[in-house]
Amino acid sequence: MALISIDRKKCKKDGICAAECPFSLIALTGDEGFPEIRPAAARLCIQCGHCVAVCPHDALSLAAMNPDDFQAIGNGALLPTLKKTGQLLTTRRSIRTYQRQTVPRAHIEQLLDLCRWAPSAKNEQPVHWLVVENPEAVHHLAGLVVDWLRTGTAYPGIVSAWDQGKDMVLRGAPHLLVAHAHGDSLKPEIDCTIALTYFDLAAASCGIGTCWAGILMSAAAAGHQPLLDALALPEGYHLYGAMIFGYPRFPYFKIPPRKDTRVIWRS
Ligand SMILES: Cc1cc2nc3c(=O)[nH]c(=O)nc-3n(C[C@H](O)[C@H](O)[C@H](O)COP(=O)(O)O)c2cc1C
Repeated sequence: MALISIDRKKCKKDGICAAECPFSLIALTGDEGFPEIRPAAARLCIQCGHCVAVCPHDALSLAAMNPDDFQAIGNGALLPTLKKTGQLLTTRRSIRTYQRQTVPRAHIEQLLDLCRWAPSAKNEQPVHWLVVENPEAVHHLAGLVVDWLRTGTAYPGIVSAWDQGKDMVLRGAPHLLVAHAHGDSLKPEIDCTIALTYFDLAAASCGIGTCWAGILMSAAAAGHQPLLDALALPEGYHLYGAMIFGYPRFPYFKIPPRKDTRVIWRS
């Protein structure tokens, strides 16, 4: 079966599919000037679906993708304005104090669902998730990270805070989100980072706070075995990013200032 089928009754030979294909696998070189697929497509097509999604005439279908799985965008009326997007981007904060209340699984699923649209190298979509749903389990993981900190000299204050009952590693958060991917993926760390950033922004848009779990990430990267054992990621998969999340205890009233934009303009 052909990778891509073209409905000749609908196709207007406008070349949009050819122009948008990431690897130029479509050309208007078929008979009567219809688009045709280069043989290299069998090897190079990354199944991004752009040829189907960009066609104004609904003239293409991909063998590997169900046409019904392509959602219509509509007229863009639902898009946030730049002002609203700016409000989201500037008011999201790293949250370090959480309510005990957990986030319902259905709500977490909604956020993770959106993360599927994060870009990924070669459209590999390599990101998998581990959601620690239980606050006690998050606390246990924090303890394992503190054990790792005890073996070194970094962050003595975090160790002594833990000994006095204060969790500065995972902040007493009710949940931990771990992005993992197979080590053979093309750019797993970047893809996981972008997906986590999608999660961060989607969460902030509905009142859920997040904070990157950098120290846990360091302990995992250092190969702290008790932590890796507790995370128990599937064989061949590695942690490439982690984030705590939950309902914030305190609202923020101001946006902290940032460094000025530093840019080299070149023409
Ligand atoms: C890769 C990464 C690791 C981080 N690790 C931690 C961490 O371990 N603990 C923490 O409290 N904040 C951590 N942060 C949050 C940063 O401190 C925070 O993003 C920064 O201070 C800016 O604040 P904002 O996120 O509220 O804008 C991390 C952020 C990133 C991007």
